[in-house]
Amino acid sequence: MPAPLQLSLDDLTPAERSPRLVDALGRFTITPIVSPGPEFEEVYAFLDAEFGPKNELEAKSTILGWLGRAGVEDGQFVAYHLLSCRDADGALAGARDCFIIRRGEGPWVVLLSHVLVGPAWRRSGLGALLRAAPVALLRAAGAQTHEERVLAAEQELIDPADEASIVRQLAYRRAGFSALNPQVFPYAQPDFRPHAVAAADPRPVPMMLTLRRLGLEQAQEAPAALAWAVLDAFDTVHQEHCLAGDLAARRALAEAWCRDPVPMLRFDPAEPERAAPLLRAATLPLLPRRLGGTQGEPVGEIAEACAALRARWAP
Ligand SMILES: CC(C)(COP(=O)(O)OP(=O)(O)OC[C@H]1O[C@@H](n2cnc3c(N)ncnc32)[C@H](O)[C@@H]1OP(=O)(O)O)[C@@H](O)C(=O)NCCC(=O)NCCS
Repeated sequence: MPAPLQLSLDDLTPAERSPRLVDALGRFTITPIVSPGPEFEEVYAFLDAEFGPKNELEAKSTILGWLGRAGVEDGQFVAYHLLSCRDADGALAGARDCFIIRRGEGPWVVLLSHVLVGPAWRRSGLGALLRAAPVALLRAAGAQTHEERVLAAEQELIDPADEASIVRQLAYRRAGFSALNPQVFPYAQPDFRPHAVAAADPRPVPMMLTLRRLGLEQAQEAPAALAWAVLDAFDTVHQEHCLAGDLAARRALAEAWCRDPVPMLRFDPAEPERAAPLLRAATLPLLPRRLGGTQGEPVGEIAEACAALRARWAP
């Protein structure tokens, strides 16, 4: 069994460092899984119960093939990490997986894949630990603090009717994440369904790329080169199991829309208008149907969506 991950309070943003987090650091044990066995089986079943029905989890054979993967492939460093988290009594409380990818001397990019906190452990501080765990993984991989290091998550556009889409923004904003403006650097997750189904009627999911630039959490923009490094990293993983056409379509649109630097947006429920491009109502009509957009067809009123968000979520 590999040694537990050594997390430090410094891996969290100051806004997340609370007494609850100090307790959580002492209480939970986060351990990498690097080989098949009962620990893997339990964690895969845990993730599968949540993400399987939504078609958001790779097949067991795919993840088994990734376990322990770490090394240089085609000129870039690629490492896969699956982490299990146990409470003090040994109960499985959470899990996360991610890839670390670095081309040559370029930025270190961590692709945050799945994260799951068991219902009994929600808002216990474990969510924050699992958001920060990749920082410890980067340290262990040799990333230096003077190097550009970015944690990247694919997140759904904000829909006032979808509570999870808002909670995610609130939690990640406090954890130092902000989104690449999807009207400058558009993004869509490729269709994860089996190829035979996806090829007949591809349905990528329009999303935003949400980044935590370590040490630069307050930055209002990102160099376009960083946005491309993140997209390249997602392509590295997606090309292994998704259709090439979905990847080509999103890249072509990003090439057409991208400008340098790319503005970064933070959702504030008191002022949703300031981050309006993060709303489905604002961005879906701009996207082609090939990438899951509505190509000009309205998706509700932006002003109404902002009013609903303010009424429900503003402090
Ligand atoms: C997403 C998930 C990991 C977040 O973990 P969590 O323990 O529920 O929440 P966190 O501790 O991370 O929440 C951080 C902050 O977000 C906000 N927040 C979280 N849940 C909230 C809710 N239901 N209502 C309002 N605000 C909420 C709060 O500001 C919270 O901080 P606080 O508890 O100090 O007030 C967890 O809910 C989960 O596993 N969900 C199912 C799987 C999933 O959606 N995964 C993400 C996609 S891959």
